[in-house]
Amino acid sequence: MLSRLPDIDSAGKVYPHPSFFETKDRIESVLDQYLTLEKLRARLEDLPVQFENPQPRLWQPIHWQTINQKQVVGIDLKIFLSIIVGAVNTEAPIRGYTQTSRQYLEPIHPQLARFVGGVVAEDGTMLELGLWEKEERQHAPALIKTYIQLTGNKPILSPHAPKSYKPLNNPGDDLYRHGLHRIITEYSAVCLYLRLMAHTTGTLQQVFAELLQDEINHMTKFWGFGIWLFPESYLSRMAGTFGQILTRQHSTQVSHIQPTAHLTRTFHRMMGVLDWNSWSWNHKLELVYTFIRVWHRLWRWSGSLTPEYLQQLFQ
Ligand SMILES: [Fe+2]
Ligand SMILES: [Fe+2]
Repeated sequence: MLSRLPDIDSAGKVYPHPSFFETKDRIESVLDQYLTLEKLRARLEDLPVQFENPQPRLWQPIHWQTINQKQVVGIDLKIFLSIIVGAVNTEAPIRGYTQTSRQYLEPIHPQLARFVGGVVAEDGTMLELGLWEKEERQHAPALIKTYIQLTGNKPILSPHAPKSYKPLNNPGDDLYRHGLHRIITEYSAVCLYLRLMAHTTGTLQQVFAELLQDEINHMTKFWGFGIWLFPESYLSRMAGTFGQILTRQHSTQVSHIQPTAHLTRTFHRMMGVLDWNSWSWNHKLELVYTFIRVWHRLWRWSGSLTPEYLQQLFQ
């Protein structure tokens, strides 16, 4: 078992008892590696290639048996484990999520529908898996393996049922609402895994680096698609939602803006799953900081997504 922390790892300098500012530096270092404008751009531009020839992003080999408790840095192990359990509960069951998304996408963009949820026969048999599903379905097992490696026990899980496909007004409006939830979930996963990379080292950190790269990959693709299909409105709606979340307004106070209220609820539910209430102020601050910094990167990148550029990718 590793008895000593390395001086430096994939998130920069390692501090055994990091302060907020030290963790902040590690978060920034991960941002600079994985969320540069060039990388975000490349992840989106990869989409037409994936439509033609879907290939899951390969993970670097992980030596699972070398994961140990000493690789959790600056965060209480109990809280860390509860975050892993919460993450598994939002990652699984992936099949439900992919099929709901596929149904909302099908009338609007069949190629993205296939990318997300594959091809399904009339009788509901899966003929082909979607690329998104192929990548996402590795996440819950990877987190469970990590948990077992850290504790010697299987986690006790309580996954919630994914929302089923419920078309309401017209396919465009339905997809608009559904897509916002999907993007918020991917964005939150990016922020969560990014922060966990800052609080881990060694093989354990490598697991979160792989999860993070997959989630960035999906977030950029869904985000780009959302901006192409609903220019302007997506950004302002998301910004509104985060404004409310950050100022701690609750959904009951904003019930007149239905989609935003739903989004705020989605977000609060996710934070509940992660047992946010038991976190220290320092840890809450770190996550909020991560949310703002990732948002800032997305915002800057979004500015470069001209209608002509997006048209090229999605038409
Ligand atoms: Fe995931
Ligand atoms: Fe995801």
